[in-house]
This record gives sequence, structure tokens and C-alpha cells, in this order.
Amino acid sequence: MASAGAGEGKKTAAGSSLHSKTLLKSQPLYQYILESTVFPREPDCLRELRLATATHPMAAMAASPDEVQLLGLLIEMLGAKNAVEVGVFTGYSLLATALALPDDGKIVAIDVTRESYDQIGSPVMKKAGVAHKIDFRVGLALPVLDQMVDEEGNWGGFDFAFVDADKVNFLSYHERLLRLVRVGGLIAYDNTLWGGSVAASADDEPLSERDRALAAATREFNAAIAADRRVQVCQLAIADGLTLCRRVA
Ligand SMILES: C[S@@+](CC[C@H](N)C(=O)[O-])C[C@H]1O[C@@H](n2cnc3c(N)ncnc32)[C@H](O)[C@@H]1O
Repeated sequence: MASAGAGEGKKTAAGSSLHSKTLLKSQPLYQYILESTVFPREPDCLRELRLATATHPMAAMAASPDEVQLLGLLIEMLGAKNAVEVGVFTGYSLLATALALPDDGKIVAIDVTRESYDQIGSPVMKKAGVAHKIDFRVGLALPVLDQMVDEEGNWGGFDFAFVDADKVNFLSYHERLLRLVRVGGLIAYDNTLWGGSVAASADDEPLSERDRALAAATREFNAAIAADRRVQVCQLAIADGLTLCRRVA
């Protein structure tokens, strides 16, 4: 790959590459998008964390560079101050969110483990001067969100949420987040096209049992969201599928 530097567009130890982070069928076109519009505007700290994350055996879990660029733009357009993230891993999307929030902004970041974050993400957050915005809560997302719903003053107290954890619980997260995110605020759900498997046909290569189950859960989620009049919805084919839900009621 060209100008963008080591680790970009190349296979990692885990066999993942940036090309696994898009549903676009044309790798050159995805590379063009990254090189023309994403990498030239990528903050140094985000690039540092992206490259450090690429060395992790589970690197494929991280959000894509074009996707986090979009999240940053949406957060700034919203004028968001308070955010929630479900599913942190090394903190790549978390850093993009933190950078888009004002200096007195806050993000509640939820993950069952903070091992990868402590090892890889946390030093970059400190260097980037955004660590003070992050309130990391370790635990299963559902009880943590329930606790947040129970906390006084949290209803409608958040402007933005990004959900990128266990897909089978997305609908349960949605119900909690509709309490926490204000009317006019945005909830973004990742992986809502699950590698295109949601539309797999009998002629396609057979899916693994896990992918079949996740495709079914994702289709169920997408149908429920499409029918949910409490949100204005938009399905984007960026990354692995990103569903935007703007709370309207
Ligand atoms: C896809 S990764 C998140 C990637 C991250 N948003 C990024 O851009 O780098 C999913 C994360 O969700 C966490 N996770 C999975 N199930 C969870 C659950 N039930 N509650 C909280 N975290 C969970 C995993 O530990 C993992 O770190």
C-alpha cells in the first residue's frame, strides 16, 4: 500500500486487514477513500492507536477509520457533551468520540474487560489529553446500563451512544439507551449488516453456525428498529453496517 504507512492495508498477525473493515466490494476503491479523505485528516493520536491496535490478535474487532471519522463528524454536528460507548476493546472508537467532545465532555465507556484498553489505548488517551473525559465502567453492559438508568438525572442526560459489543443484546441495549439519550440525540449501532450475511441466499457459501445465529439476531434487530417509531432511522453500508437512530420520542 502507498503513502499511509506501516500496517495500513497490510495483513496483521491475525490475518485481518483494513480491507476486512468494509462491505465495499472494491478494495482499491476503499483504499482510495482512506487515502484521499480519511488518513489525511486523521489526528496523530488516532493514527497511533489504530496502528497499535492492528498488532493485537483481535484487531478485526476495532471500528474502521472511515467509520470513526463519521462518528466524530456526527458528534460535533450534534454538539454532544455526554456520550456512552458499549464495547471499548483498545479504545479506538472511544478516542475518536473523546476527541469530538468538548473539553468538559464525558463518556461512559462500558466493557466486560479493560485489559486491551489498559495495555494499548489508555497511554494514548493520556498523551492525547482526553483521559479526563472517560468514565470506564467494567462489567456486562446490560446491568451497567440498568444501573445508569436508575441513577438520578441520567434520563435524557446523554447526547450520543455508540454500541459495538455483543450483537444478540442490541435490542435490550436499545431500550435502556432510549431512556438515557435525549430526544434529538443519536444512537449508532455497529455491525448491523454482519458482513452482508443478513442477506445471504441459498446460493452463497454456507455460513458457520455462529454467523447464522448472528445474522438471524441482526435481521431481528434491523426489523425491530425499522418498526420503532421512537427513532428516525438510517442504515449505512459503511464498515460492517452502521445503523443511526435519532431519538424522536
Ligand atoms: C467489537 S469490540 C469493540 C471495538 C471498539 N468499539 C473499537 O472501535 O475498537 C467489542 C467489545 O465488546 C466487549 N463486550 C462483549 N460483550 C459484552 C457485554 N455483554 N458487555 C460489555 N462488553 C462486552 C468485548 O470485551 C469487546 O472489547
